[in-house]
Amino acid sequence: MNHDLANEIRSKVDIVDIIGERIPLVARGKNFFGVCPFHDDSNPSMCVSREKQIYTCFSCHATGNVFTFLMNYEHIEFRQALHYLGEKVGIVVAPLATPSKHTKYDKLYQAYQFSVKYFQNNLFSEVGRGARNYLLGRGISEEVMREFEIGLSLDSRSDLTDLLLKKEYDLATLNKIGLSSDASDVYRDRIMFPLYDVSGKAVAFSGRIYRSKDQSKYVNTKETEIFKKGELLYHYHIAKEECRIHKFVIVMEGFMDVIRASTIGYRNTVALMGTALTKEQIQLLKRLSSNIIFCLDGDGPGVHATLSIGDTLLEQGIEIKVVLLPDEEDPDSYILKNGQEKFMQLVQNALSFPDFKLRKLKEKVDFRNDEEKANYIYQVLEEYVKIDDPIRIEILLKKLAKEFDIGYNTLEMRFQELKSKNVPKENVQVVTQPKTVKKDKYEKAVEQVLYFMLNNDWVISQVVKEHVVFPTEASRILASEISYFYQTYGMITVADFYTYVQEKEDILVLLNSILAGSYHEHTTKEELFEYFRVIHQYRCDQEIERLTKLMKKEVDPLEQAKIGDKIRRLRMGES
Ligand code: UTP
Ligand code: MN
Repeated sequence: MNHDLANEIRSKVDIVDIIGERIPLVARGKNFFGVCPFHDDSNPSMCVSREKQIYTCFSCHATGNVFTFLMNYEHIEFRQALHYLGEKVGIVVAPLATPSKHTKYDKLYQAYQFSVKYFQNNLFSEVGRGARNYLLGRGISEEVMREFEIGLSLDSRSDLTDLLLKKEYDLATLNKIGLSSDASDVYRDRIMFPLYDVSGKAVAFSGRIYRSKDQSKYVNTKETEIFKKGELLYHYHIAKEECRIHKFVIVMEGFMDVIRASTIGYRNTVALMGTALTKEQIQLLKRLSSNIIFCLDGDGPGVHATLSIGDTLLEQGIEIKVVLLPDEEDPDSYILKNGQEKFMQLVQNALSFPDFKLRKLKEKVDFRNDEEKANYIYQVLEEYVKIDDPIRIEILLKKLAKEFDIGYNTLEMRFQELKSKNVPKENVQVVTQPKTVKKDKYEKAVEQVLYFMLNNDWVISQVVKEHVVFPTEASRILASEISYFYQTYGMITVADFYTYVQEKEDILVLLNSILAGSYHEHTTKEELFEYFRVIHQYRCDQEIERLTKLMKKEVDPLEQAKIGDKIRRLRMGES
């Protein structure tokens, strides 16, 4: 890795801009705060420092500089982050001069890459005519087939399996990764849709029937080491760029919907591939945009799923918008029938989730029945209680009062009553509880000195001059890396040092802990020496403890006396 280049690029970008383009940041004092994208949260526990050019989450302790942020947020490697930022500041970084990291899954990814190409080849050859016509009949052009790498599995017992067996794969592996079952292909005579992970690698397939009707419509790859259905969203890797441009994301049920939407220019879309939304998928969604529009199928299950997902997200402080499709339509069929213009209007007129919910509530009420009507109004108020915006509440209450010809004050009073019942729950949500592990006095002293070193070069010299010996392996390595960095570059900043150590996992844990702790930046010589004394005392105590144990085990009285003498000298402060 070229550190000079990395440091130069880092010094030309501002971490606040880069993070701010991805998550909303609010300035508070010298720092900026936002909702941490690296854990499940709705509180602004991530702090971004312009001065230090690092970020720290006080809740999950995610820490780092602009490179690590991009690597973790975009799921990219260091080289790619460097390349991306280099482009921003006009510094050319040779793309991937270093080969990308090899993982133990490389062979599995390669099997999928190969299968994708193989299935595509089938689709575009003579045997694929029937399937191709099916797709063309559904309005999927060849260009779209290629864009989404759609393919075809053959109506044969083990075509793909045999091919892969010739390519150094064994049956056990092929079974494990869901391409074969016993010695047969898992997919036969189905249109194959590759499913991609967050970085865009094919990790599974969904195969659709296209001529027989008596089988299940889609067959999906089983869960494997590289495919966890609940941890990905279809089309995420494309949507992540597109959502930044469009500033919103549309969530759909099926990948056919996403594919269709792309044909009218909406590529800021992802598919759940069903109607469930997992915790991991919520995290992914939050990364795409804070403006989330749900457009599930217009049928019962679609509406039901929207209601339950909307509630779950609202509890986490995420308010979605909802596009209502006519019953029995999905985005795919709606777009096919009505075209781009009409769909765009629907998206532009998406309802806020509370409005959507109320509309659905209302559909069931018989307004000639006073009891049902009153009941409905109470339910409406229950929903309003969840809205954290007094002005909006007032507007909504006024509308409600007018619609049902009820006094505004009566409604307001009931609303306040309901709200006061809900207060304790809300308070719990607001408090951020940092999960700090309790550190003892010595640990704190060690971390504080290391933090001084990172911020003051004179402290580095003092540590060297005084021969300070840190008590743990990690702290010793970190201290020597700091000195080394300073000697090499003649200066030190936390952000650049962070780039330097990012591959050294043994010290990264300690460094992260230090950056997440609230340590002082600057010190005086007197204070520093006091810390040195505490650290030294700790080393002595450790040594005394070790020698005492040794002495108890020792049988030779002469040796015992020697050890006893050492202990005595340590106690007296001579080392
Ligand atoms: P849909 O039944 O809504 O599929 O299921 P679709 O998008 O309308 O597909 P077409 O138009 O009939 O071709 C939505 C999603 O649920 C999953 C798939 O991921 C699909 O994209 N699904 C559906 C299955 O996994 N298996 C099934 O049998 C059906
Ligand atoms: Mn459909």
